[in-house]
Amino acid sequence: MKTWLIDSDTFMKEDTLRRLGAILRNGGLVVFPTETVYGIGGNALDMTAARRIYEVKGRPSDNPLIVHVADPDDAIRYVRELSEDAKLLMRAYWPGPLTLILPKNDVVPLATTAGLSTIAIRCPRHEGARALIRAAGIPIAAPSANKSGRPSATRFDHVKEDMEGFVDAIVDGGASEIGLESTVLDLTSPIPTVLRPGAVTKSMLEATLHKAVAMGRLGSENEAPKSPGMKYVHYAPMGEVTVYYGSIEAVAKHVNAIVEEDGSHRHAVICAGEDVARFRAETVLGIGRIDDPDAIGKELFSALRDMDRLKIERIHIPAFPEAELGAAIMNRLLKAAGYRTVNLDEKNTKKT
Ligand code: TXA
Ligand code: MG
Repeated sequence: MKTWLIDSDTFMKEDTLRRLGAILRNGGLVVFPTETVYGIGGNALDMTAARRIYEVKGRPSDNPLIVHVADPDDAIRYVRELSEDAKLLMRAYWPGPLTLILPKNDVVPLATTAGLSTIAIRCPRHEGARALIRAAGIPIAAPSANKSGRPSATRFDHVKEDMEGFVDAIVDGGASEIGLESTVLDLTSPIPTVLRPGAVTKSMLEATLHKAVAMGRLGSENEAPKSPGMKYVHYAPMGEVTVYYGSIEAVAKHVNAIVEEDGSHRHAVICAGEDVARFRAETVLGIGRIDDPDAIGKELFSALRDMDRLKIERIHIPAFPEAELGAAIMNRLLKAAGYRTVNLDEKNTKKT
């Protein structure tokens, strides 16, 4: 299939939006930017479009899609009801990087929700994304625009790499503003539960709801996942990723010794910018200052993809602070590592 590649200026022209809207209404797929990561969009009300998304992504069909609406007020058309909690959160964080799990109504086909009676719904704040959904006149199902299992796509190059030739159009929106997928919050459980941490943090949700919010347990292999996406290998580069806990001095000493001893593999380190000089691997990527989680979040997936481009076989990453956005950063990182961790913390305060 020939994919129409669209630069950002052409994208916002009325004629382009009209054509893209028609492609979506007719069951086609359009990769588009959002403030979190790029998405592969298709008509959320069309079973065939939903199936095409699964096929192109190589995604298991029991992993449901997020439905995107152009305006907060449109959500009511696709859910059975909006609880008071839902209304509070929508008012506080929509448009924005928060996905709500709510009971779905019959308008939404089960192919979109992978057979679940609930729907994941969000209103992105990216103006281009909203203009596109508005032009289509339908809600847009859009998973992250990566092949299943790969790091999410946060740059035009990434989506071209994974999706050119498989979708009708790809829009260049530059580097994603946040770089980590939306927070997914389940509002159908007795206690609101974060199934995937993101830029709308647990403390922000609690401040808005004036009550406790739970964190869904992440990564335990043998239980039925509440968010189906929790159970699959995710975000993984080809090389083996290890996350290290402990002081940066201890981590650097340990990693440098490994790199020195093992000359048969290509090693890389991904760390905070100010720590780059501590490491002696052939590739050391700094991805933002340790006290700037926004910068780290924005660079993380791109750095993981760079590892494949450089054919790195062993990737060493000192753990980042876990407060606020750090929870989302460490969630993606531990998944990319398949939970392979090394604890070098002498005080042993961190359980791994
Ligand atoms: O930031 C984002 O959310 C991006 C952009 C494109 O909007 N989209 C995205 O979609 O990350 P995806 O499909 O890669 O991740 C959706 C996550 C998956 O973990 C999925 O299992 C979960 O949301 N999910 C979707 N519907 C659900 C439901 N009804 N109940 C529980 N989890 C659900
Ligand atoms: Mg994804």
